[in-house]
Amino acid sequence: MSLKRETVLWSAPPHTIAKISILQSYLSRWFEIFGRTHPGKSLWYIDGFAGPGEYTNSPTGSPVAAIASASAALQNVGAKWWAGDIQCVFIEQDANTFLHLQNKLNSLDENPKIQKHLFNSSCEDGLDSLHRQKQNPFSPPAPLFAFIDPFGVKGIPFRIVKDLLSRDKTEILINFDSDGIGRIFKAEEAANCESNLNEIFGDDSWKVALKKDSAFHELILQALDLYKRKLRALPGVKYVFAFEMRSTKDNPDYHLVFASQHFLGLEKMKEAMKAIDKNGTYSFSDAHIGQESLFKFNDPESHGDRLFKQFNGKTVKYDEVRDYALNESPFGNPKTMLKYLEEKGMIQAKSRDPKRRKGTFNEDNLEYIMFLQGS
Ligand SMILES: C[S@@+](CC[C@H](N)C(=O)[O-])C[C@H]1O[C@@H](n2cnc3c(N)ncnc32)[C@H](O)[C@@H]1O
Repeated sequence: MSLKRETVLWSAPPHTIAKISILQSYLSRWFEIFGRTHPGKSLWYIDGFAGPGEYTNSPTGSPVAAIASASAALQNVGAKWWAGDIQCVFIEQDANTFLHLQNKLNSLDENPKIQKHLFNSSCEDGLDSLHRQKQNPFSPPAPLFAFIDPFGVKGIPFRIVKDLLSRDKTEILINFDSDGIGRIFKAEEAANCESNLNEIFGDDSWKVALKKDSAFHELILQALDLYKRKLRALPGVKYVFAFEMRSTKDNPDYHLVFASQHFLGLEKMKEAMKAIDKNGTYSFSDAHIGQESLFKFNDPESHGDRLFKQFNGKTVKYDEVRDYALNESPFGNPKTMLKYLEEKGMIQAKSRDPKRRKGTFNEDNLEYIMFLQGS
């Protein structure tokens, strides 16, 4: 959803507050995990569309949320923190908004291990400036999490996303305005469709993927599906998932697209989503074309049946099933779906543990899972 803003501070709608909570919750996990496991390495967080740092109805914009997560992680990990400093980059194009952000961040009292780098520029120029600095996250590559949260569709050319994800241990969370893409496509040249969509998708593959005669919601899913495929085609990017966030009353709000090179990233991101889901304000959708879109985190049956169809008649390793569950289901792992399938006699699991109980799937002991031939 595209938002317009007239003053430096504005009131955050509930979906913005939910998005920031997801970010904060995920980053706490991310900083803790990397803090414990990457001796001496700086951890980099980049907020490419940082905003003013607060709202008229909330003291916590995304930059403040990131710093709160970093501080909490440093405190929780304590003496077991092996990584170096936490480097937070905030890029904001609007001069007044940037000033407000600067003052807001200066008023925070944070751990000296947290260092801030602020750029009053476009996201693209800010990243270029960062590249040119002596100390930067790109050489040698450091663990990096980028949050890309524009108003609308402009300002995130695919080449930026591709460049960020070309480095090892990079993850990205994008507020993807699929609705805006649908509107640009429908408006054709009146919305400068060709050059805008070429920039967003990195090429003209949208000309084949988006169908002129589609209903609007279908068009949105086509745009999202193409974007996910483009991300997953990048070397090393094995985990991509899009969450459609919608308030219980309204239509879809926007899609959060997450891309990672490591299964643990998507597993932890789903945990952060699930925590938001608990308060009942939001529901999520895995937004796949041709599927019922809303999902519940506690409904393994329908996704279990889909999992079975995917591997019908095959014998596979746990990791393959885990990757499918991460990319194609709401679950952070396949275990509840496998339990359901085993209870129905549709799979057999071979474990090295002679005492394995039915319905349990310890990945360290599992040799393979056999999906019995079904119709
Ligand atoms: C959706 S708001 C960001 C909200 C913030 N991420 C949060 O969660 O609190 C988008 C911000 O990006 C800024 N902006 C717009 N175009 C930009 C660009 N090309 N590069 C960097 N910032 C931009 C806007 O001024 C606005 O403050």
